[in-house]
Amino acid sequence: MNRKTETDTVARVDAQAVEREALAALEAATTPDDVEHVRVEYLGRKSALKLALRDVRDRETGIALNTLRERLEGAIDGREQELRRAELDRRVTEERVDVTMPGTPVRRGQLHLITQIRREVEDIFLGLGYTVVDGREVETTRYNFDALNFPPGHPTRSPQQTLFLDDETVLRTETSPSQIRTMEAQEPPVYIVSLGRVYRRDTPDATHTPTFHQVEGLVVDEGITLADLLGTLDYLLKALFGEERRTDFRTHHFPFTEPSVEAFVSCHVCDGSGCPVCRHSGWIEVGGSGMVHPNLFEFVGYDPERYTGFAFGWGLERIAVLRHGIPDLRELWRNDPRLLTQF
Ligand code: DAH
Repeated sequence: MNRKTETDTVARVDAQAVEREALAALEAATTPDDVEHVRVEYLGRKSALKLALRDVRDRETGIALNTLRERLEGAIDGREQELRRAELDRRVTEERVDVTMPGTPVRRGQLHLITQIRREVEDIFLGLGYTVVDGREVETTRYNFDALNFPPGHPTRSPQQTLFLDDETVLRTETSPSQIRTMEAQEPPVYIVSLGRVYRRDTPDATHTPTFHQVEGLVVDEGITLADLLGTLDYLLKALFGEERRTDFRTHHFPFTEPSVEAFVSCHVCDGSGCPVCRHSGWIEVGGSGMVHPNLFEFVGYDPERYTGFAFGWGLERIAVLRHGIPDLRELWRNDPRLLTQF
């Protein structure tokens, strides 16, 4: 009985059929894992071949089965190596990282021209030892008008010119209220600039936008004179527009300064000889300034007998337009990158 089973097993192994099948399976294998399955199936401990080899009794069958085993081992090893090499080739080509290849470019943003000028002005004054202070865009009429010595009935107090949030609250029409808040918060000496947005009820056109930016400057100390104001503004104008520019100062009127002065810079287009840009005057107005009115000192509790000071307030858009020859102020608000990336 036992013997019969053994003979049967040997008999059942048709060497040629096993070889054909195994080679076909190898042919179909596409990964080293597939090959491993073939190895288990045809050469594993429970494979027909291994069982037959274990039970083999005659020399001839033994030799035949062993050569078959060797051939299959060779074929399996060969196929496995072939697939491993193919896999390696694939990875070497597909997964290659060329570290010398340029990366995907990231588009860099940039600061808006007004922000650039704002920072530039801040840097100029930080270099002179000033402090940069923040103001409020929403102000009370007390700080926007009363404290700044605007008389009752002044046209700027009208809702025609100023954006009111309620009877006593406005969107600040100028950065000057920050002078009052600064003086209330500290004793002299004061050397500050305050930059930010201001609002006026203007219809937008080439030279007006209802929102724009100003830089406010304030100096209060003992012995400050008009010469200090003129020297400081001359320095600022040359820092912004170039050393070769000439400056000029003319009297004017503001409620919060006495005397009041308007600053002019020689025209950048004609260099002072007269052209349409400067309306044939050779000069372009840049902004207001003056010696701080004693009423402001009284409002904040400074001694006007002891302290004097100067102040100025210029538009940043105006600086941008003059320096870069931008024909229409509204361009700065359209935010067209084709324009803005030029600066
Ligand atoms: N606040 C003025 C304006 O908006 C500008 C100005 C003029 C500011 C004279 C000042 C100054 O501080 O002293 O037109």
